[in-house]
Amino acid sequence: MQGRPPRQMHLSAQLMFTPAMHAIGSWAMPGNETLPQLTKLEFWQDVARMCEESYFDMAFFADHLAPDDVYRDGNRKLAIEYGVQFPVLDPLFLIPAMAAVTAHVGFAATMSTTYYPPFMLARKMATLDHVTDGRIGWNVVSSFAKTEMRAMGLTDFVPRDRRYAQAEEYLQICYRFWSSWAPDALRADPETMSLFDSSKVDYVTYKGEFFDVDGCLPVHASPQGRPVILQAGASPQGRDFAARHAEGIFSIRTTAAAMAEFADDIRARAVRQGRSPNDVKILFGAQLVQGRTDEEANERLVQLRESVNLEGALAKLSGRTGVDWAGHDLDAPLTQMDVPGVQGVLDMFTGRPEGEVPLTLRQAAIEFAVSSGSPQIVGSADTIADEMERLFVEGRGDGFLITPSVLPESFRHFADEVAPRLQKKGLLRSRYQGRSLRDLLFEDPN
Ligand SMILES: Cc1cc2nc3c(=O)[nH]c(=O)nc-3n(C[C@H](O)[C@H](O)[C@H](O)COP(=O)(O)O)c2cc1C
Repeated sequence: MQGRPPRQMHLSAQLMFTPAMHAIGSWAMPGNETLPQLTKLEFWQDVARMCEESYFDMAFFADHLAPDDVYRDGNRKLAIEYGVQFPVLDPLFLIPAMAAVTAHVGFAATMSTTYYPPFMLARKMATLDHVTDGRIGWNVVSSFAKTEMRAMGLTDFVPRDRRYAQAEEYLQICYRFWSSWAPDALRADPETMSLFDSSKVDYVTYKGEFFDVDGCLPVHASPQGRPVILQAGASPQGRDFAARHAEGIFSIRTTAAAMAEFADDIRARAVRQGRSPNDVKILFGAQLVQGRTDEEANERLVQLRESVNLEGALAKLSGRTGVDWAGHDLDAPLTQMDVPGVQGVLDMFTGRPEGEVPLTLRQAAIEFAVSSGSPQIVGSADTIADEMERLFVEGRGDGFLITPSVLPESFRHFADEVAPRLQKKGLLRSRYQGRSLRDLLFEDPN
């Protein structure tokens, strides 16, 4: 690395508008305010300010619309009982408030191509891009939970291939809507009272297998033209979709070697789609558990694990894998199998590095309940900064999707203690350049 400054990492927060985001039980942890402050805009504005103090590219909101209901023969109440990422309020209403108190950090929201008509999504995203002054991104999900589909009124489970095929058409329609207004369409001529040059605004017509659309986007061209496209698919179909469209990809891999393998695979897929490997920024999930010392951080991790109710944990694991784990031996090691839900969730517990003892069902459920699968970086600020550096270099990603363990404490400590250490190592920007979220993701600080 001598002679050349190190690459700098891109960082995103991973948030959810729910009392216990990615660690169930965290609402009861000391220092956590997501339960009493959940619906206070000032709380979320503070979160946005901390993201900006840490020079994050963005604060991303994951979303999950229905309580998990696979465990115990489809029990519909357990996930509600134990607050398994539930309730979950609509984050779109937080973003303008968070943008109002920040100037640089971007925001991203998750919306499903299976639930919203493309016209509605194109309008919402274009509006958000205006009111954030070009700082919006969209995490494109096609959705996988039957409970969500039933709540939306879909009676047939839509299989993955079909969802991705539909998402493909969906994006083509959105792209057309977002480019249907020329940036210079505004005329505002007081002589003629012509407001827009209507020759610079197109109706969008599209007829495909899934959609038949004929309409005019009711939002003029927004600062970024279109939101930054983010994606987190893991299957071969999901990876190809991401490699075709995404500007940012979120992924959860538990080791540096698995990160590197994923990053190489995505970049190779992007090249096969005619893109440059640098057109896609790959951010790996990491959950931070910080203490003043490594010992204190380890105690916090123990506390986090103890805050988990096992029934809630099994409800979450069952919901995500699509397997009802009731009646399985809690203390037997998990074995590899095909699951109807998110395969990657099971794989991260069965595919442990060689030499490591496989986790039992009980351990995996608690692990997943606490971290949602993200690898944990546990320790003092020095330990965290060093481990982030190692994973960044060895994992060959472009940065991290940082999941707080308790909020706001995790982000306060990150901004005060970890970000300055990363900056000192030359791994994190010390000032923002550019104006838009896209500028942040693609600026080359070197
Ligand atoms: C970091 C990360 C964040 C995700 N966020 C969401 C989300 O907020 N909502 C959602 O429905 N799915 C979310 N997903 C799920 C993915 O969009 C995708 O559906 C899942 O990984 C399965 O993809 P596959 O069908 O291509 O295997 C997320 C996945 C990852 C890895």
